[in-house]
Amino acid sequence: MERFLMVLLIGNFAKGQYSGANVTQSPKFLLIKPGESAEIQCHQDNKNFDYMYWYQQVPGKELKLMMLSRNSASVEMESQYEAEWEAERIGAMNSSLRLKKGKVEDSATYFCAASFRGSGYAQTFGDGTLLTVLEKGQEEKNVANVAIFRPNPKEQTDHGYLSIVCLASGFFPEHVQLQWKVNKKERDGSQGKAIKTGDTYSISSRLSLTKNEYYNPDNTFECSAGLRGRTDVKTESIRGEKSCGVSPDELKRIVNNGVYSYILILCKTALYGLIVTAIVLRKKAIANAY
Ligand SMILES: *[C@@H]1O[C@H](CO)[C@@H](O)[C@H](O)[C@H]1NC(C)=O
Repeated sequence: MERFLMVLLIGNFAKGQYSGANVTQSPKFLLIKPGESAEIQCHQDNKNFDYMYWYQQVPGKELKLMMLSRNSASVEMESQYEAEWEAERIGAMNSSLRLKKGKVEDSATYFCAASFRGSGYAQTFGDGTLLTVLEKGQEEKNVANVAIFRPNPKEQTDHGYLSIVCLASGFFPEHVQLQWKVNKKERDGSQGKAIKTGDTYSISSRLSLTKNEYYNPDNTFECSAGLRGRTDVKTESIRGEKSCGVSPDELKRIVNNGVYSYILILCKTALYGLIVTAIVLRKKAIANAY
C-alpha cells in the first residue's frame, strides 16, 4: 500500500515537471509602419520549465530559432537577429521579444515556446503573433464584405450535423478574426487561413450546427468581422430554415392528422427522426388517455 502510494506521488511529480505548460503570447496581431518598434510578450505557467524560446516563421519558410533562454538569467540571441531584435527573460515564466525598427521583411509570425530542460524534451508553443510591417504607401483596409452561406444540400448527410460558412473579404492586412453568435451567444467556429486576392485578403470560418438548431426559423446565426483593434465590424445574420418547408408546429398538426407519409418521402433524411419522435409521443399520449 505504502509503495503504491509512493509510486503514485512520484508519478504525479514527474508529470507536473515534464508535461505541458500553457504558453500564452500577446498580442495576437501587430501592425506597424517601417521604422516603428514592436513588442511581443510571452507567459508560460509551469515553473519547472527552464527553457524558453522565440521563433520566426516567414510565410512559406521553416520555423527559425531566434532566441534561446536556458534559465531566468539567460538570453542567447541567434547572431542573425542580434542587430535588430532584443529579447528578455523576465523571471522563470515570462519572456518578451522586441523589434527595434521594423522593416517590411520582418512581416512574419512569431512563436514563443517553453520546455523542461533542453533537447529531448517536448516544447510547448504559443498561438503565435502575426506581425505585419506595412510597405510604403500601403494602408490598412477594414473588412468590406461579410456573407453567410447556407449548407450545401448535397452536403447534408445523415449524421445529425451540418455547417454554415462565413466569408469576410476586402481587408488588409490579414488581422481578422471572425466571430460567430447563435441567438446572440458567442460560438466557436473553425477559421481557415487568410487568402490573398489582389491586394486584399479574404478568410472564412465554418460553424457546425445540429440539424435541430439549423432547421428552426427562431434561431439566428450571426457572423461579424473587423480588423483587429477596430471597433467598426461588419455583421451579417441569417435565420434557421424551416425543416423541409414545414415548421415544427405544422409538423405536429400533420402528424396528429395522420397524413405524414408523404412528407416522410419528401424529406426523409432531415425529418425522419422528428416524425418518429412525434408519432411515439402521440402513441404514448393516446395510451395514457385510456
Ligand atoms: C508574467 O506575465 C503574466 C501574464 O502576462 C503577468 O501577470 C505577470 O505579472 C508577469 N510576471 C512578471 C514577473 O513580469
